[in-house]
Amino acid sequence: MTVTARAHEIRRPALVRDMEFDRLTHLVRAARDRHGLVTELTGDPGAGKSWLLGGLAREARGDGVTVLSGRCSEAGAEQPFHPFLQALATWRGPGGRIVPAAATLIDVLGGAGEAETASFAGRHQLFVTVRRGLADCLAAVPGDVLLLLDDFHWADPLSVALLEMLIRRPVDGPLTTVVAHRPRQSPVRLRSVLDLGGVASVALGPLSYGQSARLLDGVEHALIRDLHDDAMGNPLYLTALADRPADDDGGGPWARGSLGARLLAETELLPGEARTVLDASAVLGDVLDLPAVAAVAGVDRDVACRVLTELGRRDLIRALPGSPGRLTFRHPLVRLALYAAIDPCRRSAAHRRA
Ligand SMILES: Nc1ncnc2c1ncn2[C@@H]1O[C@H](COP(=O)(O)OP(=O)(O)OP(=O)(O)O)[C@@H](O)[C@H]1O
Ligand SMILES: [Mg+2]
Repeated sequence: MTVTARAHEIRRPALVRDMEFDRLTHLVRAARDRHGLVTELTGDPGAGKSWLLGGLAREARGDGVTVLSGRCSEAGAEQPFHPFLQALATWRGPGGRIVPAAATLIDVLGGAGEAETASFAGRHQLFVTVRRGLADCLAAVPGDVLLLLDDFHWADPLSVALLEMLIRRPVDGPLTTVVAHRPRQSPVRLRSVLDLGGVASVALGPLSYGQSARLLDGVEHALIRDLHDDAMGNPLYLTALADRPADDDGGGPWARGSLGARLLAETELLPGEARTVLDASAVLGDVLDLPAVAAVAGVDRDVACRVLTELGRRDLIRALPGSPGRLTFRHPLVRLALYAAIDPCRRSAAHRRA
């Protein structure tokens, strides 16, 4: 496979998501005028949410806007206010010095204990302080501020509550917030908060064939259709497949390198039992059902059912559309990555049971 352009090196985020990017830019600009609005950016893993946020940040900085960024992580979901603390730490004033009111807010949020967070009254008082603190920060530094919160499906419950406050009672000052998340992995609480009136939404679906062709500018035309179909319009998988080295040995880009690592990272925190069920599913193929998964994993159906529900919550496994009782992986490449990572002895044992 010869690839003459490495798609991931293309820096213009508007290139294949121009409509979504323009809408996001427009919403952010309009929100700045009205102050304090929140926009959500949704999409499956690899759909391009962080990529668009990066483009939005560059564009905003070019317009003289202060950009604050916070990102949630699955491992960091235990730390209250993690994305907000991260974002506040990036709030710099003239001369690149941290805004003193932001440093105070970091102390307030970082030091919040049971008394401030466990009860409704405690949280209310805390958020009154936070609103005032944010208004002080905004007043201290001239110009607009754009707050970008990425991977919010992993946000801790207190960060979700703080986001709710920003939506219900916008802060006094030119603060605009964009929240990116994977909706299928977002807890119900977050989805209901983002469903509150006034939150605009931009969704990143699969790329059309035309968009894939633009993203793979430089790739032989004959290959684009296959790559688009294999990736099912997902830009992450599309660029990884296009960047596959010509001497690929069949292990595939999903088996190693950054794509493999990124896909496998989604399973890192799974307990052993879930890992066994997932590996059995990967051995079984793209179409699964509960009895077969339980048999190959060597576990009770009840156990397999509970684990498959959890794997569904993590959007590794989905219901197969139009086939009641059947399941499938979120994407065939997810299965291939998992399959390639199974210990060879366990893999052949699972094949014998399949
Ligand atoms: N608009 C785009 N133009 C060019 N390449 C893109 C675009 N969007 C995404 N990509 C490619 O797809 C990759 C994955 O995108 P990104 O990391 O933004 O996905 P994501 O939606 O944030 O996924 P996750 O939910 O896993 O964080 C990017 O690193 C880039 O290579
Ligand atoms: Mg991302």
